[in-house]
Amino acid sequence: MSEPTNDKPLLSVRGLAVSYGRAGQSENAVQYLDLDVSEGEMFVLLGPSGCGKTTLLRAVAGLQAPHSGSVTIDGQDVYNSKSGNSVPPEKRPVSMVFQSYALWPHMSVAENVAFPLREGRRGVPRDEVAERVTEVLEMLGLSNMRDRPVTTLSGGQQQRVALARALALRPRLLLMDEPLSNLDYELQVRLRGQVKELVSRIGVTTLYVTHNQNEALEMADRLAVMDAGKFRQIGSPRELYHGPSSEFVARFIGDMNLLPARIAEVGPNLWVDTPLGRLRAGTNCIDDAKVGQSCLFGVRQEDIEIGDNQGADNIVSASVDRATFSGDSISYQMNVNGTGLQCRLHRRFDVPPGRDVLLRLPVEHCLVVPTDGQTGAS
Ligand SMILES: Nc1ncnc2c1ncn2[C@@H]1O[C@H](COP(=O)(O)OP(=O)(O)OP(=O)(O)O)[C@@H](O)[C@H]1O
Ligand SMILES: [Mg+2]
Repeated sequence: MSEPTNDKPLLSVRGLAVSYGRAGQSENAVQYLDLDVSEGEMFVLLGPSGCGKTTLLRAVAGLQAPHSGSVTIDGQDVYNSKSGNSVPPEKRPVSMVFQSYALWPHMSVAENVAFPLREGRRGVPRDEVAERVTEVLEMLGLSNMRDRPVTTLSGGQQQRVALARALALRPRLLLMDEPLSNLDYELQVRLRGQVKELVSRIGVTTLYVTHNQNEALEMADRLAVMDAGKFRQIGSPRELYHGPSSEFVARFIGDMNLLPARIAEVGPNLWVDTPLGRLRAGTNCIDDAKVGQSCLFGVRQEDIEIGDNQGADNIVSASVDRATFSGDSISYQMNVNGTGLQCRLHRRFDVPPGRDVLLRLPVEHCLVVPTDGQTGAS
């Protein structure tokens, strides 16, 4: 598991539990989580719908009351169930961007950004409000729209206003809850890069929620995969992609073929018996793997190669059941002695259904993953 890059985390969460019913009477939406996010880090929470991402974010912001644990932001204890301390949301050094933008429809772009600075307990002086508004609108390329009613902006522009409003507060911690999911796909992809570049330029520590794995991998310095209120694995995008410590994470990140298998040999060479025959794996994600132990053999669709590689390890003969052309690549449903194997090949490998082919499952890209219920290395 990768460690935060800095000694003193900007956000520190310990034993945090949040329940929507009375404690102990209903299942916790967030189950006793520990989390450290370093200063300047972009930390992504990734997980399926209902796993507790929004609940965790809202608890950090102070919008949802936890029933136990503690939250420390920038050295300040903002929630602690033991001491009973709970700092109200507007006094926490955070700002939040929501999926729904939550802009005020009767205000202009500039007014939307200025409003939270002027109002409430913040009471930023007039001149400074004007300065900050101009600065963030400039930063987000919204200067030429500053006086337009916010309702006349496109979805992508409105989301940039929401981000500008959050950044104008100069939070120590920026919380973003699926900020791009209401936008069309192309805009999402473009804004991912822009948002990441912007927050890293400003250096604001960010906790970013998404259920989209590509978005998570692209945006994150580190990410946590969440399931039913718990973290299943925390690490860098590369660590999680190449070394999922559980079946859940392996299935959630990337398009992985996972076949039931049994360990045949451990040591310098790791061999497993699979429905495709005895295969070698380059990465072992099981702690203390034993011969005879059941496991999963994993290989990603895009890592499988086609062609005549006689003599190499992990060659299987297959026939093409189905081929789906999608422009840059072709997705194949292969059949290896009755076992299905999905692979995605560059479009230059255009093989018609019914044809027999040899496939190579490169050892360095083959994983042994624990079935859920077993412990994985982390
Ligand atoms: N106001 C509420 N009252 C009762 N239960 C709630 C409430 N809000 C959320 N929950 C429950 O808490 C759990 C976690 O919900 P949460 O909204 O945090 O999930 P999420 O990971 O953000 O999901 P999504 O990706 O769909 O936004 C779910 O089981 C949900 O049904
Ligand atoms: Mg949510």
